[in-house]
Amino acid sequence: MANINWFPGHMQKARREVAEKIKQVDIVFEVVDARVPESSRNPMLLEMLAQKPMISILNKADLADPNRTKQWIEQYQAAGREAIAIDAQHARRLQQLPQLAEKILADKLAKKRARGIRNPHVRAMCIGIPNVGKSTILNRLVQKNIAVTGNRPGVTKNQQWLKASGNLELLDTPGILWPKFDDQEIGMRLALTGAIAETAFTADEVALWGVAYFQQNYRNVLRKHYGLTDEDVALAPADLIKLLTKKFGYGEEFDRTAVRFNNDVRKGELGRYTLEVPTKAQGNQE
Ligand code: G4P
Repeated sequence: MANINWFPGHMQKARREVAEKIKQVDIVFEVVDARVPESSRNPMLLEMLAQKPMISILNKADLADPNRTKQWIEQYQAAGREAIAIDAQHARRLQQLPQLAEKILADKLAKKRARGIRNPHVRAMCIGIPNVGKSTILNRLVQKNIAVTGNRPGVTKNQQWLKASGNLELLDTPGILWPKFDDQEIGMRLALTGAIAETAFTADEVALWGVAYFQQNYRNVLRKHYGLTDEDVALAPADLIKLLTKKFGYGEEFDRTAVRFNNDVRKGELGRYTLEVPTKAQGNQE
């Protein structure tokens, strides 16, 4: 496997910037990818939060397995964590966010009102790893297309507060944290969803892992999409990739099959999927 400790310098810088920004807000909107709700978190964020309230937004729910999204939300809520699942591209559910933030901050806001502040602001920011949809959510919440500075830390110059609905104000630049792969499985999940470039892993490694995951969890989808038999989908992952290569007419070019499979998964050609299951729901799968 290639070096997984990429961009350590950037990571440190991003960490410092996010820690600085957190101080300025009342509440943090942690954006994760609903297909990999745990792997797309950055555990450092929790250390940086201290006592700051947080709402986890499981974004891209339109691409995720709805049953598993439901299980994740239930598990989070049972653990006392605020979590909602949304699809930022069709952001109806996103409108719940300002009210939810006000509800969570009710005590703090009541104190401000008691001190004579009539309409206290709720200041928030979106935080997450690259590509989870932070900018999309930010733009939706403020209902315009602001020029978000992209996934590079260190470009925040004159940051501003943007007005969303109700009394919600958002920091104009999302906080970017890099994913942390303490274990290779996390990296594989992120690579398969497209959250990290394949420079960290080869397409082959990702496809082998992905094929095995779909065989175990979404076997029917695999069968239907590629026109495979029950016996085919029961092959060892490497043999199944060989078979697909033959089917696609790629000769001995197994890499091509790997790239194609990875792209199919990323583009949702294999339907909706979630690459991890809450602990409580494990053993209770398809
Ligand atoms: P970031 O700021 O966290 O890095 O993410 P960003 O908002 O730029 O979103 C990354 C990609 O994910 C974008 O696609 C965006 O359109 C897409 N996206 C965001 N939210 C959702 C969602 O809820 N569902 C789906 N299906 N996609 C979502 P892109 O191809 O990189 O850009 P574009 O084609 O939209 O311009």
